[in-house]
Amino acid sequence: MSETIFGQYARYYNLLYKDKDYAAEARYVHELIQRHGQGTGSVLNLGCGTGSHDFELAQLGYGITGVDLSDEMLVAARLRGASLSAGAQSPSFVKGDIRSVRIGRIFETVTALFHVISYQATNDDLAAFFATACAHLQPGGLLIFDCWYGPGVLVDPPAVRVKRLEDDCLGVIRIAEPKMHHELNCVDVNFEVHIRDKASDTFSVLHECHRMRYLFVPEIQLFLKQAGFEPAHCYRWLTFDPPDAASWNIICLARKL
Ligand SMILES: C[S@@+](CC[C@H](N)C(=O)[O-])C[C@H]1O[C@@H](n2cnc3c(N)ncnc32)[C@H](O)[C@@H]1O
Repeated sequence: MSETIFGQYARYYNLLYKDKDYAAEARYVHELIQRHGQGTGSVLNLGCGTGSHDFELAQLGYGITGVDLSDEMLVAARLRGASLSAGAQSPSFVKGDIRSVRIGRIFETVTALFHVISYQATNDDLAAFFATACAHLQPGGLLIFDCWYGPGVLVDPPAVRVKRLEDDCLGVIRIAEPKMHHELNCVDVNFEVHIRDKASDTFSVLHECHRMRYLFVPEIQLFLKQAGFEPAHCYRWLTFDPPDAASWNIICLARKL
């Protein structure tokens, strides 16, 4: 995954996902931690992006360290200035590659949310990610990650999508054209993004390719076992139900041995 992809993406990331309910997702992660983990504590959030889950989880009482490779996403995260209630600790953000970063401390929970794992497109990338997660957990510590789910992607393959958004500063039209690579369990999502800067009335066009890996439960279990985790519990995203062939997104929880 190249560093520049999310450099460009960061400019319009928060606008693209302005309707994504990060508060509800953070409450769901909190519920997962209460059920499977060791209660409210420290969280290392790998691939934190612009910090949306981080501030919501901080509000719920967690001590958060977010890691991302993209300087631009991290700048946006640090600039959020979200007002936290008294007693909530502001998240800290660190630049690093989640395949190799070592923060130098142990956390109670490690998370990777909103397809971060699916950006780790090769087996080597995935193995390196799981090693990073393992290195930052105490025995019994919990790893929580979501991913594109193979059966769902194959049953209902990605199609061309157009998204139009605007705020006071920008107008954005994003066209997403997928190309399947069945031999790699990957989809190249080719984005063409038309951006209008309202203040200067200028237009620009960006082209980005996001290679996304879809994953199957047996291979997830193998990666986890090789990295030193117990077998995972997998649920359909935002539920406590098992995945089915209509699920595009699942969440997995695994405890470090
Ligand atoms: C779809 S965004 C999700 C961001 C955030 N978790 C959220 O929910 O908004 C994927 C993020 O993963 C980061 N990322 C992908 N691969 C990475 C890697 N190898 N090391 C660090 N960050 C990575 C990208 O920079 C990007 O911010």
